[in-house]
Amino acid sequence: MMWFKPWRKNKVDLKSQVAIERLPHHIAIIMDGNGRWAQKRALPRSMGHRAGVEALRKVVKACSRLGIEVLTVYAFSTENWRRPKDEVGVLMTLLTEYLRKELNELHQNNVIIRTMGRISDLPREAQHELEHAIESTQNNTGLILNLALNYGGRSEIIEAVKKLSKDALSGKLKVEEIDEESFNNALYTSGLPDPDLLIRTSGEMRLSNFLLWQLAYTEIVVVNELWPDFGQDALLEAIKEYQKRDRRFGGIHTN
Ligand code: FPP
Repeated sequence: MMWFKPWRKNKVDLKSQVAIERLPHHIAIIMDGNGRWAQKRALPRSMGHRAGVEALRKVVKACSRLGIEVLTVYAFSTENWRRPKDEVGVLMTLLTEYLRKELNELHQNNVIIRTMGRISDLPREAQHELEHAIESTQNNTGLILNLALNYGGRSEIIEAVKKLSKDALSGKLKVEEIDEESFNNALYTSGLPDPDLLIRTSGEMRLSNFLLWQLAYTEIVVVNELWPDFGQDALLEAIKEYQKRDRRFGGIHTN
């Protein structure tokens, strides 16, 4: 006899809760509010970041099950180095720990790990775990989990300009050939579609130097939950909100 297992309900129902044919291909998230989450509980900020990793775990799993193609998360910005040394250390340790503990499950869920940002400035240990995670998941075919680490949108654009200028000076590229496609290819996100949906938690209405080029036509959903409180249900709500939007990309509807 088959028993109804209420704890399996979410697993079965996930895809039926959103319009599956209009899912965003690429979701980007500014995971904000870890500090405030901890402060509200009189806990150290590090506990907020730890809870933030848990939320990330849940969201990666949900995106994977929904069949989302790319999830880009803002894990550490170029500006985050300005935080106290201890907090930067905690974030780096959490990244290393996350990759060590989760790699197996990520791999089993067919997730591909990718990064964007100046990875060479991260602590050696974090770089090592990232290289290992990227290499071991490179042949997977499911969700691309793109971790923005030591990432800044303006410096990404400057890097791209330098790269294209070098190619132009060396004769590899004609100036007339510089267009949106060649520019896209010079960015960290080369080969990825632009995000369809940007989610920012904790109610702040800012881009904070995130994906400045790529977000040109992205739908933005700002939610009040602090990042550690964000999970599968909040993700589904954000996707439903996205699905109500009328995307015209600067044009008009003709039908
Ligand atoms: C913003 O909260 C969050 C961050 C600066 C880092 C996000 C990091 C994680 C979710 C965990 C580590 C990531 C990985 C990939 C393991 P905040 O500290 O700015 O919050 P506040 O605005 O309330 O102070």
